[in-house]
Amino acid sequence: MGVVEGLLALGLILNVCVVCNGGTSSPFVRKVEKAVDMPLDSDVFAIPPGYNAPQQVHITQGDLVGKAVIVSWVTVDEPGSSEVRYWSENSDQKKIVEGKLVTYRFFNYTSGFIHHTTIRNLEYNTKYYYEVGLGNTTRQFWFVTPPEIGPDVPYTFGLIGDLGQSFDSNKTLSHYELNPRKGQTVLFVGDLSYADNYPNHDNIRWDSWGRFTERSVAYQPWIWTAGNHEIDFAPEIGETVPFKPYTHRYHVPYKASQSTSPFWYSIKRASAHIIVLASYSAYGKYTPQYKWLEKELPKVNRTETPWLIVLMHSPWYNSYNYHYMEGETMRVMYEPWFVQYKVDVVFAGHVHAYERSVSAKTWSLKLLALQFLI
Ligand SMILES: *[C@@H]1O[C@H](CO)[C@@H](O)[C@H](O)[C@H]1NC(C)=O
Ligand SMILES: *[C@@H]1O[C@H](CO)[C@@H](O)[C@H](O)[C@H]1NC(C)=O
Ligand SMILES: *[C@@H]1O[C@H](CO)[C@@H](O)[C@H](O)[C@H]1NC(C)=O
Ligand SMILES: *[C@@H]1O[C@H](CO)[C@@H](O)[C@H](O)[C@H]1NC(C)=O
Ligand SMILES: [Fe+2]
Repeated sequence: MGVVEGLLALGLILNVCVVCNGGTSSPFVRKVEKAVDMPLDSDVFAIPPGYNAPQQVHITQGDLVGKAVIVSWVTVDEPGSSEVRYWSENSDQKKIVEGKLVTYRFFNYTSGFIHHTTIRNLEYNTKYYYEVGLGNTTRQFWFVTPPEIGPDVPYTFGLIGDLGQSFDSNKTLSHYELNPRKGQTVLFVGDLSYADNYPNHDNIRWDSWGRFTERSVAYQPWIWTAGNHEIDFAPEIGETVPFKPYTHRYHVPYKASQSTSPFWYSIKRASAHIIVLASYSAYGKYTPQYKWLEKELPKVNRTETPWLIVLMHSPWYNSYNYHYMEGETMRVMYEPWFVQYKVDVVFAGHVHAYERSVSAKTWSLKLLALQFLI
């Protein structure tokens, strides 16, 4: 009895040690100084030339299975057309699809004309060219659709979170672009522009972020997760609708996974089933997000998509004092389901420091503990 207790105690102590210090896996050391935002006249924020030229072009998956793409962009001189002209590399038969435009106001800021157009019925594994700004200044881009969903299709996801628009943000994006592994889709774990750091959440910084990231997101989908910097809740200036800039600018295919809200949804892409959760929407028992996730997890077909990936903004495990335990209440609600349905990997942002662990449950790393005990 005493021996068993001794071993258990040892196991627990080792657990704690492992959580505290998993070792160093990269020579990168973050600088101590605060990140400095790139000034508005920086090259990365340049406004594309030409009358009513589309800017801030971005794409994301437009359906459950990867055969549709949502194309979004902003025009500023006049509404212009919400049509997208597109064609596959192997054909010169061009098609046109019509979308919708939205605008919004935020305190004394008025947005440009924000267009969202969904291209559907695309072929898998195909390069498509597309054009926006039809009738005024037209700009051309391209993307490649993913392979058909299946267990044995290789695919490379990039992972970015908390990007912002500092000089370091530009380095982060370049680092991703220059990676020889060539990411095909970005899983973005929340906190996009950090416009809310500016007086009155100066939404001009949402526009500059859109222009900064266009060089990647116009050519490959970024899968969006909402972070705390998307909330933009500012009752002191009369802005009481949370997520207003984010939801007007970044559309996601939430209805395709029977979600009732853009903040939680799922997609399937290649061999992965990806569930996006909302750290800043209600997740307690009986809430819409809880009910949706309860129905969603049993739908995952591991024969078809062996990888089950979850994205969220606020991590459930974090050993830094910064944002410590902010994800704890959601962990308490959902971790038993993650264990039951064998989630492979959870990606989160929020804490601007890299950490990873093997599968964890209730703040202990099961596998490592067992290894030590043996
Ligand atoms: C909005 O208000 C701020 C603060 O009063 C001011 O500096 C800024 O110029 C105004 N912007 C517009 C577009 O009116
Ligand atoms: C811009 O494009 C729209 C939509 O095609 C068209 O109605 C409008 O006349 C164009 N404006 C100019 C100045 O050409
Ligand atoms: C951002 O990075 C790109 C690519 O590395 C570079 O061309 C550009 O000059 C950089 N801009 C700023 C403001 O750092
Ligand atoms: C899971 O996917 C496989 C492969 O596509 C399919 O044969 C099977 O019918 C699916 N299972 C369910 C329960 O839908
Ligand atoms: Fe955050």
